[in-house]
Amino acid sequence: MITILVTGKDSQLAQCIQSVAANFPNFNFIYKSSRELDITNVVQVTEVFKSLGQIDFCINCAAYTAVDRAESEVEKAYKINVEGVKNIAQACFENQVTLIHISTDFLFDGTSLNPYTEESETNPLNVYGETKLKGELVIQELLSNYFIIRTSWLYSEFGNNFLKTMLRLAKENDEISVVNDQLGSPTYAKDLAEVILKLIGAKNVSYGIYNYSNSGVASWYDFASEIFRLSNSKIKLKRINTNQYPTPAIRPKYSVLDTTKIEESLRIEIPYWKESLRKVI
Ligand SMILES: NC(=O)c1ccc[n+]([C@@H]2O[C@H](COP(=O)([O-])OP(=O)(O)OC[C@H]3O[C@@H](n4cnc5c(N)ncnc54)[C@H](OP(=O)(O)O)[C@@H]3O)[C@@H](O)[C@H]2O)c1
Repeated sequence: MITILVTGKDSQLAQCIQSVAANFPNFNFIYKSSRELDITNVVQVTEVFKSLGQIDFCINCAAYTAVDRAESEVEKAYKINVEGVKNIAQACFENQVTLIHISTDFLFDGTSLNPYTEESETNPLNVYGETKLKGELVIQELLSNYFIIRTSWLYSEFGNNFLKTMLRLAKENDEISVVNDQLGSPTYAKDLAEVILKLIGAKNVSYGIYNYSNSGVASWYDFASEIFRLSNSKIKLKRINTNQYPTPAIRPKYSVLDTTKIEESLRIEIPYWKESLRKVI
């Protein structure tokens, strides 16, 4: 039996892990909410790890994820995404636990013309991206037994995400405008959850950084358009550019991830983003 601690129990990713957990009968899951395990509270982190006995893996789903708010809550974002991650990494080191940490496509500045590989140069454009990058570096300094999985544009039936926002807006409006000049890969968090658990079950996969997103490329406009098509919404959708929708955080114009490494390591075929979106809707 492999014992797995999942932090950030109420995150959309942890809820997706809970919904696919039954497919992995050899894994024993322990989920901790932010109240039960505040990753910024070093005493609580130490005590929880101690009280649980032997844990094999920790999947860190706890994070500060409010990309725009981070621009004005720099300290809070740093505290959770850097200090909190450091506490978890330290506890993993002391208890010989393999850490699986989730990172983001917002580490990149979007100037590339090709999908970003695990070796591509990082250059975050916003506070959230900066804190996530520092969180990665802290893990790499403290641990050798870790997997950092960089993903993008997560959505699911759980929590707050672009899919749920679009479905709500479609009920409240006759017309909306969505940005068409930022390109990335929408990723179903349940597909990511399954891949994380496959990674835990896999043998001979090297520690390190891995990209995972659904395959294909879309703009936020394309994503919204497909959501409305699949949900038979009659809402009128207009394309706009980023400069017509200013946000506190600057986002990369292009943040497509090259997923070859994880595909080859786990021998998996990654679903096309529209295919996964169809399943959810
Ligand atoms: N969402 C995306 O588009 C996206 C894209 C790329 C990468 N990621 C990364 O993927 C991971 C999962 O994202 P998600 O969208 O599933 O997250 P999410 O739904 O926004 O949930 C984040 C969770 O972190 C918890 N949390 C916040 N501060 C905490 C603390 N101090 N201690 C313990 N837990 C704390 C929150 O708890 P409460 O609910 O109790 O506040 C919440 O449940 C994150 O690392 C994120 O950076 C996300």
